[in-house]
Amino acid sequence: MAATIYGAHVEFRDILARRRMHRAFLPEPIPEEQVDRIAGVIRRAPSGGFSQGGSIVVVTGEAKRHEIARAFGDEHYTPYGRNFIADAPVHMVISANESLYHARYSEADKLATTGGVEVTWPVPYWFVDAGALMMLVLAAAIDEGLASAFVGHPDQKRIFDELLGLPEEVVPIGLALIGKPGEAPPTGSRMKERRRGKEELVHRERW
Ligand SMILES: Cc1cc2nc3c(=O)[nH]c(=O)nc-3n(C[C@H](O)[C@H](O)[C@H](O)COP(=O)(O)O)c2cc1C
Repeated sequence: MAATIYGAHVEFRDILARRRMHRAFLPEPIPEEQVDRIAGVIRRAPSGGFSQGGSIVVVTGEAKRHEIARAFGDEHYTPYGRNFIADAPVHMVISANESLYHARYSEADKLATTGGVEVTWPVPYWFVDAGALMMLVLAAAIDEGLASAFVGHPDQKRIFDELLGLPEEVVPIGLALIGKPGEAPPTGSRMKERRRGKEELVHRERW
């Protein structure tokens, strides 16, 4: 599938071929127009009932990025002597807001289809949608010729509440890192060997 975006001719399969979680970034800043286009994908993100519960906090300030890196801890994020969370010049905290889904699905048109009671949620759509938003952000970064990654921390709600002032009902699903790719030694074959085969993951006609 080909698409013409911002004057560039980009093949989805090329974006997919380049998609991976980078673990080294150059700290040099990214032009504001690019940051804005990447964050702007939120307006193209799907959401259950069009609840629009996803959100992004963009952080580019060096001091705040370093605070976030410190809060996440150095042990996993300094594989080659540099902390790649601190280095990544653009941080995007991606969050879900469950309360907007309950509000939306309590509106008259939704209640009319479910007999006056709130829908039974097959899975938490707010996290499904935040994950879809995360993937759009990572793909948009590649489309801009940049590298990206996504990292999480068990205590990220408290960390981002304290550092970025998230409202109580806004729950971060993780942190997207964006920037120019830095130099990192290639990942060892051990991880590649762990990639499951398509036949194990994709089922035809039935499981
Ligand atoms: C929800 C989610 C959370 C992740 N959290 C981390 C993380 O905390 N630290 C990290 O180094 N990588 C994290 N990753 C990256 C995965 O390790 C990575 O996607 C996986 O090893 C496959 O590699 P690839 O994405 O480069 O193909 C996360 C990925 C996802 C989707």
